[in-house]
Amino acid sequence: MNETRTDIENRVFLISGGTSGVGKAIATGLARLGAKVVIISRSAERGQAALKDISEATGNNRGDWVAADLSLQSSIREVSDVYKRKYDQLHVLINACGAVYFKKELTAEGIDRMFAVNVHSHYLLTNQLLDILQESGPARVITVSGNPRFMKNPIINFDDIQMEHQYNTMRATSQSLFARTLFAFELAKRLEGTGVTSNAFYPGFVKSNLARNAPWYLRVAAPLMNASAKQKCEIGVYLASAKEIERANGVFFDDKKQIVPIHTKFEDGAGKKLWTLCEGLTNY
Ligand SMILES: NC(=O)c1ccc[n+]([C@@H]2O[C@H](COP(=O)([O-])OP(=O)(O)OC[C@H]3O[C@@H](n4cnc5c(N)ncnc54)[C@H](OP(=O)(O)O)[C@@H]3O)[C@@H](O)[C@H]2O)c1
Repeated sequence: MNETRTDIENRVFLISGGTSGVGKAIATGLARLGAKVVIISRSAERGQAALKDISEATGNNRGDWVAADLSLQSSIREVSDVYKRKYDQLHVLINACGAVYFKKELTAEGIDRMFAVNVHSHYLLTNQLLDILQESGPARVITVSGNPRFMKNPIINFDDIQMEHQYNTMRATSQSLFARTLFAFELAKRLEGTGVTSNAFYPGFVKSNLARNAPWYLRVAAPLMNASAKQKCEIGVYLASAKEIERANGVFFDDKKQIVPIHTKFEDGAGKKLWTLCEGLTNY
């Protein structure tokens, strides 16, 4: 891609999920362009290992990591404070962490783990960092989403978003992808005129560790799947750094840089409902 970049060497990029998969692919792509990347990791070992890989692949040693378990609100608040003590600017927040849980699990704070990691973490982390994003503007928030082919009818059951009654992995996964996409659109509305934008994207088929919580027969198949996946995420790097989309807000991009009008698929008022629901769950 030959697009014009923002002043990338002087911009700071914070990446959730930067130790693996989509987040790591974006962190590596940005580091290759000379960026300062900070990744969030729940373990020192994985954080340091990812930084080592990124530095070896790119020759960029400016990377840093900060610690958080993003399934926990208390940890999200803590990492946001740590980040603000360490850095006085944040230009791009990349919400790329995600997980699939094959049975119903609750966090120590009593929230469905799938919803906490895939949706609520993005809501809370972004809101905790909005002040520093606005101060650093023009700034961006980009949020990973799913394949637009599977988003033709993005129904979210707001009455049972944590699937208290009947947990189903496929349904919980797709619902959390719909909800995080809706989050990106609603955030965009709320950010209008602030100098911070919010967009969602489909990363393409990227090498992943998502099967780590899966039953053994799916874990066995994971290397086969990964063999045909790519290690780069060009669209993520593009959305985080290209000058020409500086004003894009509330837009969904597929992995070919095409805009897909997914926002029209959600029912009116759904974004507000999601926001209210997330606000109501913000207790710690
Ligand atoms: N890969 C693809 O082709 C693809 C395509 C479309 C959409 N997506 C979506 O993108 C998201 C990420 O997928 P991926 O393929 O990058 O998965 P991945 O390789 O498993 O990476 C997930 C990342 O999220 C982090 N994470 C998970 N739970 C966390 C927690 N509680 N606290 C902090 N960090 C946590 C992981 O950290 P650890 O290293 O500590 O585990 C890892 O860095 C998923 O929601 C997926 O649905 C992926």
